[in-house]
Amino acid sequence: MKDNPISAQDASAHGTVLVIDDDEQIRGLIVRLLRPMGHALEEAASAEEGLEKLRARPPDLVLLDMQLPGRSGHEVLAEIRADPRTRLIPVVMITGAATHERKLKAIEAGVTDFIDKPFSPEELVARVRALLELKLVTDALEDAEQVIIALARTIDARDRYTYGHSARVSLYAGLLGERIGLERRVLATVRQGALFHDFGKIAIRDAVLLKPAKLTDEEYAEIKRHPREGRDLLQNMKTLAQAMPVVYHHHERMDGSGYPDGLSGHSIPIAARVTTIADVFDALTTARVYRVALSREEALGIMMEEVRKGWWDGRLLEEFRGVLTTLPADDARILRLSDSPRRI
Ligand SMILES: [Fe+2]
Ligand SMILES: [Fe+2]
Repeated sequence: MKDNPISAQDASAHGTVLVIDDDEQIRGLIVRLLRPMGHALEEAASAEEGLEKLRARPPDLVLLDMQLPGRSGHEVLAEIRADPRTRLIPVVMITGAATHERKLKAIEAGVTDFIDKPFSPEELVARVRALLELKLVTDALEDAEQVIIALARTIDARDRYTYGHSARVSLYAGLLGERIGLERRVLATVRQGALFHDFGKIAIRDAVLLKPAKLTDEEYAEIKRHPREGRDLLQNMKTLAQAMPVVYHHHERMDGSGYPDGLSGHSIPIAARVTTIADVFDALTTARVYRVALSREEALGIMMEEVRKGWWDGRLLEEFRGVLTTLPADDARILRLSDSPRRI
């Protein structure tokens, strides 16, 4: 490293590149080309070594030989995409004379780009730089999503009675959605939407939101603004756009007596109907300022009544009963989500 003026810390600030190739000469060439650009380099001579390094310290970019001995580059790629910690890392496959079919297979498995051997040094350097820039943007988006999720938690935390409410609603609604066989995308809407369903409460005053007595008509009207407020706050965030049907419609009722749009029956998005069941159930089974927590059976009894009144989707409520038989009230997931740091 004597001839390299860039310290290890500086280098990792320019992005870490992991080169997985059994050919020592190719690895050496790539390292010689990229190190002067300020990138930190890691090398692996086999699929196993590569995966080990990937897991120990996920890099910002992987240069992967397609034809590794033992496990192929395709298998390594599949493992990278399957692990949540590494699935967003760009992977460039270095190919010799790869067939069209093998390239197609790699594209289906989520490869980011190819570089054909023999490659031009300028092309390699330029591609690596461009992909590392892109990775910076992806990282920033991921961070932003974490910030938003943390923010969503603070809404529940404003009131010790609702602590963990959104996370529990997301758990219940996700299980209900799975049970009725919702398609993957709709299920994602349910889970994310449930987590943010009350986001709009951020715009409601504490004096109204936390009032320990009966609300006046005006105060109730203010509470009822939260689905619209939620929509207005979230609609410009691309990562949360899929949550919108739930955020906006989770207070609709089957007979059209809900809000904000008074939709009825199946014109209420299924993701919202599923979340509503979970929302009402969680509200009834946790203590509120104005009453103690009801038992699961009491809550289901009340909700059955409300199905008869025309409020909730009866078929979904029946399915939800099924979900509860597989999810005891003292299930570790529920307890963990309900463990309020502010509870005395
Ligand atoms: Fe709500
Ligand atoms: Fe809620």
